[in-house]
Amino acid sequence: MAPASKTLKIDGKDISIPTGLFINNEFVEAKEKAVFGIENPATGEIVIEVQEGRADDVDIAVKAARKTFKSKEFKEMNPAGRAALLHKLADLMEQHKDELCAIEMLDTGKTHKQASNLDVPGSIGTLKYYAGWADKILGQASFNVPGTFSYTRREAVGVCGQIIPWNFPLLMFTWKIAPAFACGNTVVIKAAEATPLSALYMCQLIKDAGFPAGAINLINGYGKNAGAAIASHMGIDKVAFTGSTVTGRAILKAAASSNLKKVTLELGGKSPNIVFPDADLKKATCHTGTRIYVHEDIYDDFIKTYTERLQKVKVGDNFDKEVDQGPQNSKMQYDKILSYIKSGQDEGATLHLGGKIDEIAQKGGKGYFIQPTIFTDVKPDMKIMREEIFGPVVAISKFKSEEEVIDFANDTSYGLAAGIHTKDYERAIRVTSALEAGTVWVNMYNFVHWSMPFGGYKESGIGRECGDSALENYTEIKTVYFNMGLRAPDALD
Ligand code: NAI
Ligand code: MG
Repeated sequence: MAPASKTLKIDGKDISIPTGLFINNEFVEAKEKAVFGIENPATGEIVIEVQEGRADDVDIAVKAARKTFKSKEFKEMNPAGRAALLHKLADLMEQHKDELCAIEMLDTGKTHKQASNLDVPGSIGTLKYYAGWADKILGQASFNVPGTFSYTRREAVGVCGQIIPWNFPLLMFTWKIAPAFACGNTVVIKAAEATPLSALYMCQLIKDAGFPAGAINLINGYGKNAGAAIASHMGIDKVAFTGSTVTGRAILKAAASSNLKKVTLELGGKSPNIVFPDADLKKATCHTGTRIYVHEDIYDDFIKTYTERLQKVKVGDNFDKEVDQGPQNSKMQYDKILSYIKSGQDEGATLHLGGKIDEIAQKGGKGYFIQPTIFTDVKPDMKIMREEIFGPVVAISKFKSEEEVIDFANDTSYGLAAGIHTKDYERAIRVTSALEAGTVWVNMYNFVHWSMPFGGYKESGIGRECGDSALENYTEIKTVYFNMGLRAPDALD
């Protein structure tokens, strides 16, 4: 029996959200009929229950995805047809963007500003961008090997398992499915247990857009069973993961000990942001990241400007269009962030601003609100300088020279991104080259565009998503040689 959709009143709108697993273009019950509750982080209340998929359900979804992948219709589908479907999906998202925005806010605690300026348009942009690639994936042709004509084909990899986190549920859904589908793969995707609602809504749109049944399948469920089942499944050819480094390692191991499925990982980060003495302080304090190195000459000015800025941050109801910071995503994250704040204090950093539960925003003790928090005098070996906090907590440290700060910045096992603020372009080129990070921003911070590669150095991951780099993740290269009748079969020249 198909599980019923549930209508939720979100932001004044009635929005119907499917609650099943999505397999073969149908919303279905999980084999074991287990369900789990999805929380609104602004209140801590369960707003909906969805089916919980486990290993058996993953197996059913993989079989459906395989059947579709092998079918003549799918194999021979005109790539322009795949482009048209991605465009159709983007159009449907455009028509339902208010609903998508509302669902994302309810499920994640994101503010209206974040969801409407970034998550929703970024997701639509990603679909359109990869729609553009679908019929432009080409191989090479060569007459350079004497006696042969040879060429390469870029072929779909097969069934792709995709596992996404809670911080950008909608955006990560599109980052994963769009390049995979554009290249002609089929997909079994698992949403994060805390935030499956936008993916469920997207599956309804996928069905409405007319995607072939079995092309995209969604399993809601926990990492330890549904996620682990994807990572070790013998019928999955490739797995793409975004999330923590710990889980990334587990996935790589599971892939290695099952069928050596191809793995791309987009993992954690602890991205430095360096503010040189010639920086524009207004720009430098706008989007900062959480590990900031400020030159000693401007340190006091920076702290003053930045503190004034954070004091103006409006924490509260994330549906309020004026609010800058909503609740943290889940009880788990909330507790983790508070424990990092405690560790900063225990290890001797100076708590300069915030550091507490935001009781005003909590209105009667409900919801996972934390004040914007600044630590200063943070030393390199403190936990808040080394580990990813994933909350409104900033660690600031002082530096003297360019050489010194490059060492500070690179003194991390991560390498996702980095930022620098300076007006000196020679310095900018020197320092951006020296930073060990997959993305470096100059006089801006925390900006990612679907048309440019994104991913990590060091323990921040393997491979790149976005841009044409993602096409490499979702295609195999086949080399074909034709003997032109002129070549001795066993000689190499
Ligand atoms: P996580 O890595 O455990 O979860 C991400 C996804 O992986 C979820 O869908 C989860 O169900 C799945 N998963 C968990 N265990 C799995 C397993 N053994 N096999 C397969 N899939 C599995 O991350 P979590 O616990 O939600 O967050 C912990 C920390 O990870 C955060 O506090 C943050 O520091 C970091 N993180 C980094 C992200 C990034 O974008 N770089 C995104 C999310 C988390
Ligand atoms: Mg939630």
